[in-house]
Amino acid sequence: MSTKPEARRADHPVDPIFLERWSPRAFTGEEIPRGELDTIFEAARWAPSAYNAQPWRFLYARRNTEAFATFLDLLIEYNQRWAKNAAVLIVAVSAKTFVRPGRGEVVSVRTHSFDTGAAWANLALQATRLGWHAHGMSGFDAERARSVLNVPDDHHVDAAIAIGRHGDKSILPESYHAGEAPSGRRPIGETFFEGGFPGSA
Ligand SMILES: Cc1cc2nc3c(=O)[nH]c(=O)nc-3n(C[C@H](O)[C@H](O)[C@H](O)COP(=O)(O)O)c2cc1C
Repeated sequence: MSTKPEARRADHPVDPIFLERWSPRAFTGEEIPRGELDTIFEAARWAPSAYNAQPWRFLYARRNTEAFATFLDLLIEYNQRWAKNAAVLIVAVSAKTFVRPGRGEVVSVRTHSFDTGAAWANLALQATRLGWHAHGMSGFDAERARSVLNVPDDHHVDAAIAIGRHGDKSILPESYHAGEAPSGRRPIGETFFEGGFPGSA
């Protein structure tokens, strides 16, 4: 089925991949081949990061493995109802410090979540390129994820992600149908401010 929601229209020319990536909830329940998942992970790996510290860590569970139920159980009920049909569930975590190579010095990385966000964006775009969709989630219990998934104290639990194959919205409960639609964006003028915030000196 088409992966491109119709209302996605760019105001300026961009690569089509940016409009083709979106966050459906109607996933088919299909498993993802290991090689395609590795390609999606590979794209995340090449994201830029401060000091090249690569603070991102992606904890994941594939469908039809024991861990899948554990990851699904971390999500709020609203997300469980659609993400149960995902091929992979992920919890994205970022290391808040790193040891500088050759110096042994422990550096605090202020941009750990920013960098992990870049890796997630790479992952989502690569998933789209392969005909899958990645859907970010803040609706999960981050503290329970920390304990259940053994996340160390010096790591921040950033977000959850579901990857799946997009199917027809009839897969979803009726109450989700209206939300299964393309979203737009604020205009550039409300997002980019040359010289500083409007009204600043
Ligand atoms: C960090 C993050 C958290 C999100 N949390 C949820 C969530 O808990 N549940 C959900 O259904 N969608 C969630 N979303 C999806 C957003 O609502 C969606 O990305 C946004 O509306 C833009 O739509 P698009 O991704 O289709 O372009 C989340 C997205 C991100 C990036």
